[in-house]
Amino acid sequence: MFEYAPAPESRDIVDIRPSYGLFINGEWVEPQGEDRHKTVNPATEEVLAEVAWAGEADVDRAVQAAAKAFPVWSAMPGAERAKYLFRIARLIQERSRELAVLETLDNGKPIRESRDVDLPLVAAHFFYYAGWADKLSYAGFGPDPRPLGVAGQVIPWNFPLLMLAWKIAPALACGNTVVLKPAETTPLTALAFADICRQADLPPGVVNIVTGAGETGAALVNHPGVDKVAFTGSTEVGRLIARGLAGTRKKLTLELGGKAANIVFEDAPLDQAVEGIVNGIFFNQGHVCCAGSRLLVQESVAADLLEALKRRLGTLRLGDPLDKNTDIGAINSAEQLAKIRELSEAGEAEGAERWSPACPIPDRGYWFPPTLFTGVAQSHRIAREEIFGPVLSVLTFRTPAEAVEKANNTPYGLSAGVWTEKGSLMLWMASRLRAGVVWSNTFNRFDPTSPFGGYKESGYGREGGRHGLEGYLAV
Ligand code: NAI
Ligand code: MG
Repeated sequence: MFEYAPAPESRDIVDIRPSYGLFINGEWVEPQGEDRHKTVNPATEEVLAEVAWAGEADVDRAVQAAAKAFPVWSAMPGAERAKYLFRIARLIQERSRELAVLETLDNGKPIRESRDVDLPLVAAHFFYYAGWADKLSYAGFGPDPRPLGVAGQVIPWNFPLLMLAWKIAPALACGNTVVLKPAETTPLTALAFADICRQADLPPGVVNIVTGAGETGAALVNHPGVDKVAFTGSTEVGRLIARGLAGTRKKLTLELGGKAANIVFEDAPLDQAVEGIVNGIFFNQGHVCCAGSRLLVQESVAADLLEALKRRLGTLRLGDPLDKNTDIGAINSAEQLAKIRELSEAGEAEGAERWSPACPIPDRGYWFPPTLFTGVAQSHRIAREEIFGPVLSVLTFRTPAEAVEKANNTPYGLSAGVWTEKGSLMLWMASRLRAGVVWSNTFNRFDPTSPFGGYKESGYGREGGRHGLEGYLAV
């Protein structure tokens, strides 16, 4: 085995302020309350900055700024709005190295992923929706589809800047204005985005960023001046929001949890499938709503596949997220680490067999080794609940019908993967899987042109593509 020399990306490129206010009406403003919160680097537990905790009065101020900006922004010709979005997209590209380092510091994800996956997709989303801004009449929603007004958007910590892009780009392209709340553990790239809005000369109030935790999010989604709510996060909070909004005029899209099946048939190219399984569950430490967290493998090839998979897991490098050689970064928070540990312990207690490669764990920070469970029954918690960590539950099947049955035996329905050489089997499976996305001989592939969203408890509405416009138009 070769050893790898460290190849750390320099953090000098980022300029983190000690303390941040709220971004409202194009200005940095201080919150009315005294509440502040420290955001830490989960790989070292080092404090990166202090951010404001917005209260109801601050949220109200942000919503009013967005409401005031709406008539001007929505009346602007689409081609003019597009110029701003194109400018934002180019600024993101220009500053992508800085934003990738900042994302990695605040989130714990490997720089290889923030640099090669998150940031290119963020820019691509803005470019893509910039292209729609002057073509809304041709999008299939009538000759002159109207925007909704103020969008209140709440996002999670697993893809902070990418979720911001998924939310803000289509909202602005359609002529809405925005108040966005980033997650409490990962506010820094959203705050950097506020500066990008200023750099792009975006009219004041079109984008407002309020930081805080669940209470700030609740104040935002329940504010009477909000016309549209878009949420990505846990099914638990999604339910709360849906209940709170029932009977109001607000339009709602929810992108919630998942427990995706990654299904490998005996005729699949096994080496390729191993790479897809690794990418499916160990990408972003498994903090992925559409992660392939249940491996369903056909019994005839299960032993061979597991042997190859274990060999591959032995080569994954866990450690400093800023090191370009790192495959597995830090778990985003102590809370999330506790949840992963609890579910993994439940897996053992319920009788599944736990395995991890030899994997040194750093002394400081939040870490969890890549983990695989075999002998998993469908009734086990690790087969039913979203772990949101680098933990794979392995089940087997004999026939395609059994694979479909097991794959669909979940309250979720966000994604699935099918590995087979046979096109007919692929299509047969895809038409029976109750999942918003079905990947074929690949996994965790994203593209701004492609709609994303769930069935059942994974939520409703679609983000991305032409479909993603619908949630921001009065149709
Ligand atoms: P969460 O759903 O509590 O947090 C997501 C966002 O919602 C954050 O910005 C949070 O501040 C906000 N929020 C919390 N309570 C709210 C409320 N009552 N009203 C409005 N906004 C509120 O998720 P959390 O606690 O970070 O993670 C718990 C679990 O949820 C994870 O272990 C994972 O299983 C799942 N999750 C799924 C995500 C996905 O992409 N679908 C993303 C994050 C978490
Ligand atoms: Mg929560």
